[in-house]
Amino acid sequence: MTRTYILKIYRGQPGRQYWEEFELELKPHANLISSLMEIQRNPVNRQGEHVPPVAYESGCLEEVCGSCSMLVNGKPRQACTALIEPLLAESNVITVAPFTKFPLVRDLMVDRTSMFDNLKKVSAWVDADSSHDAGFGPKISQETQEKMYHLSQCMTCGCCVEACPQVNSQSPFMGPAVIGQVQLFNLHPVAGMQKAKRIEKMMHKGGVSGCGNAQNCVRVCPKKIPLTDAIAAVGRSATIQAIKELFG
Ligand code: FES
Repeated sequence: MTRTYILKIYRGQPGRQYWEEFELELKPHANLISSLMEIQRNPVNRQGEHVPPVAYESGCLEEVCGSCSMLVNGKPRQACTALIEPLLAESNVITVAPFTKFPLVRDLMVDRTSMFDNLKKVSAWVDADSSHDAGFGPKISQETQEKMYHLSQCMTCGCCVEACPQVNSQSPFMGPAVIGQVQLFNLHPVAGMQKAKRIEKMMHKGGVSGCGNAQNCVRVCPKKIPLTDAIAAVGRSATIQAIKELFG
């Protein structure tokens, strides 16, 4: 016998959001993106009404680009790796909603530009002059490489920002992801030459002192990035820099 389930989607535009339910057939190995694609092909809601297709974002379909991030049964995660069957373990209804910490575009689509703007603010890159061959850079120890590897897995998906209570409309806090990237580039021997500049940004409004130690970020990060360790390391660097500045 065919089993069906309900996809309950919080959709609409800013200021006009509403829940809409779709009944779908449970297919083997289906994930949330394939279910949303099915709705796109046949946008008929549970009442049998033909409705506009649900807007959502996706790219890599393998949890690398972060674009399909949304709230699935209230938890921030990627829709492409959210398999339908395990989600039905407790209820026949799966709720899906857009992130709340970013401006809503439509339905499940949000605008994550703020995260990328924050990465620009902290110079989250390796400054490389490609106009001449600079040769090999300094060697990076195995221990540092391992720390950098974890941090480099960040896909700017926004799950940590969504889960952080310190990121809200009343606070300029940049959020955990950007602090993780500050630590990543500070560890790099070439990018680390800009460490003081990056830490300076972290010492001011929106910087590392905005963290309230809720630790939600590490709980929800799909890549298990040690964000709280990175926040602690950046916090220590900020304190050292502040003391150095104080004593000239
Ligand atoms: S589509 Fe890229 S992470 Fe899901």
